[in-house]
Amino acid sequence: MSADISKLIIIGASGHGKVIADIAARCGYTDIAFFDDNPEVKECMGYPVIGKTENAKEYPNAKFIVAIGNPKIRQKVQEQLETMKLSVISLIHPNAVIADHVEIGEGTVVMAGAVINPASKIGKGCIVNTGASVDHDNVLEDFVHVSVGSHLAGTVRIGKRTWIGAGAVVSNNIKICEDCMIGAGAVVVKDIEKSGIYVGVPVREQVRRDTENMSKQKN
Ligand SMILES: CC(C)(COP(=O)(O)OP(=O)(O)OC[C@H]1O[C@@H](n2cnc3c(N)ncnc32)[C@H](O)[C@@H]1OP(=O)(O)O)[C@@H](O)C(=O)NCCC(=O)NCCS
Repeated sequence: MSADISKLIIIGASGHGKVIADIAARCGYTDIAFFDDNPEVKECMGYPVIGKTENAKEYPNAKFIVAIGNPKIRQKVQEQLETMKLSVISLIHPNAVIADHVEIGEGTVVMAGAVINPASKIGKGCIVNTGASVDHDNVLEDFVHVSVGSHLAGTVRIGKRTWIGAGAVVSNNIKICEDCMIGAGAVVVKDIEKSGIYVGVPVREQVRRDTENMSKQKN
């Protein structure tokens, strides 16, 4: 991405926000600030916290990206920005590998060492995290998170807001529906058609099916 001198506001002064700030700086953003709903957080990575989401409309010329791990909250905040007609950007680490014929939606971030292979379509507000791979012909619907070191083989489709845990593997030609949590280290070899939490090798549904648990997970 070319250097850009406009203000970038990252919503969420979290660990995930730190990684996004680092990518933004490497992409040439020099005027970076955070929003965070916790009034006690004053700075992050040396960048100031200058407000909350509700202050976004006071910065009509800024660019925004949402750094919130919980997919439902990430969706809600990004949609608020879109409703306010504000500019939501995507960020790609310079050391990510993005093949030709890949589409990447607004608000999506691709971290260092991630690989996205040809003809894959990444929706808006997605996270392709550090060292993750998304092979050819994948479709990631909006607000999907492919966690650190996880791997999606060819022609995989992941439904909205689904979170693939750290180091998980999804075999080729698999479909996973929306609002699933695939546990860290899991292996998915059959389609998943019911929202819920799935763990193990191969995955089995966890008895407790409260996807709000996803909010407890750190990035
Ligand atoms: C799957 C997950 C969401 C479950 O969280 P939870 O509902 O709080 O589950 P608990 O920690 O209460 O564990 C419940 C049971 O499931 C087991 N379990 C939890 N996660 C597991 C996993 N990934 N694989 C296998 N078993 C797992 C626990 O050992 C426990 O088993 P027990 O009842 O026999 O003791 C979570 O453990 C997980 O894997 N999160 C992924 C985090 C991640 O990848 N973050 C990446 C950030 S980039």
